[in-house]
Amino acid sequence: MARNPTAGAQPEGAQDEASAAVAVRQMFNTIAPRYDLLNHVLSANIDRLWWWRAARRFRGVLSRPEASILDVCCGTGDMTMALLKRRPRSGDARPVLAADFAHEMLRRGARKFGPRGAIAIEADALRLPLRAASMDLVTTAFGFRNLANYRAGLEEFYRVLKPGGELGILDFSEPSGVLGKMYQVYFRRVVPAIGRVLCGDGGPYEYLPASVSRFPAPAELMALMKSVGFCEVQWTSYSFGIAGLYTAVRGRDQSKPGQPEPRQPASGAGTSRDFHIG
Ligand SMILES: C[S@@+](CC[C@H](N)C(=O)[O-])C[C@H]1O[C@@H](n2cnc3c(N)ncnc32)[C@H](O)[C@@H]1O
Repeated sequence: MARNPTAGAQPEGAQDEASAAVAVRQMFNTIAPRYDLLNHVLSANIDRLWWWRAARRFRGVLSRPEASILDVCCGTGDMTMALLKRRPRSGDARPVLAADFAHEMLRRGARKFGPRGAIAIEADALRLPLRAASMDLVTTAFGFRNLANYRAGLEEFYRVLKPGGELGILDFSEPSGVLGKMYQVYFRRVVPAIGRVLCGDGGPYEYLPASVSRFPAPAELMALMKSVGFCEVQWTSYSFGIAGLYTAVRGRDQSKPGQPEPRQPASGAGTSRDFHIG
């Protein structure tokens, strides 16, 4: 059956967007203490290269002290840290904002990026507590795939970006050919087994391959990004297509048809309040 590229993540048992968001948040709160360890073991540390490459792609905007930068779904903060490494050291650079709706992930992230001056915001990516047209760069690494509604996520990123602002979405994809077959075995069998050993529960790591399978292919997601109004939409494959970086720009023409209003909170679907962790 063809995938619906607009529909978002559907963890087991979720009936609608609100329950999907609650399940995703709960899952990340549960795995937070083991998240970094599992990530590095499962990816053999290639994830570090992916974050570094993604940040390098935006070195132009990151080098401007006055640029407003937001890392959404920041989790334990490794993408945020990669962005921070490319900010000017002069001391007058605007702090990077780092948002996530899973308190336990964000708390761990804030321990890393707080001392570097980034500001943690506990918020749902679909309802960001930020003004329209206020950001020069929005990034998200391995979080977008978990959103309950992909179109709504893109619309929210579009809303908060300034005209001319840049978007970067780093996420998994499914490589084709022989590598794709090997990858599927690894992802569907080995990853949940390692997750079970290190985490005591394979569930979240069964969700991971399922969520990647459901995730739109690059051509579908790029079409969705264009339909939301983004221009200069591109996808760059990383590590033979295991992951990839989507990049796009919010056009300078503000008269995009159907520009959305901010979404209202859905019951139980996450918080949307400023959260500064000292
Ligand atoms: C796989 S982790 C990625 C964390 C980090 N960006 C990285 O690259 O390691 C996904 C993160 O997205 C967050 N997330 C998922 N859906 C979200 C939403 N709707 N709003 C805010 N955060 C969300 C989860 O809480 C989790 O911390």
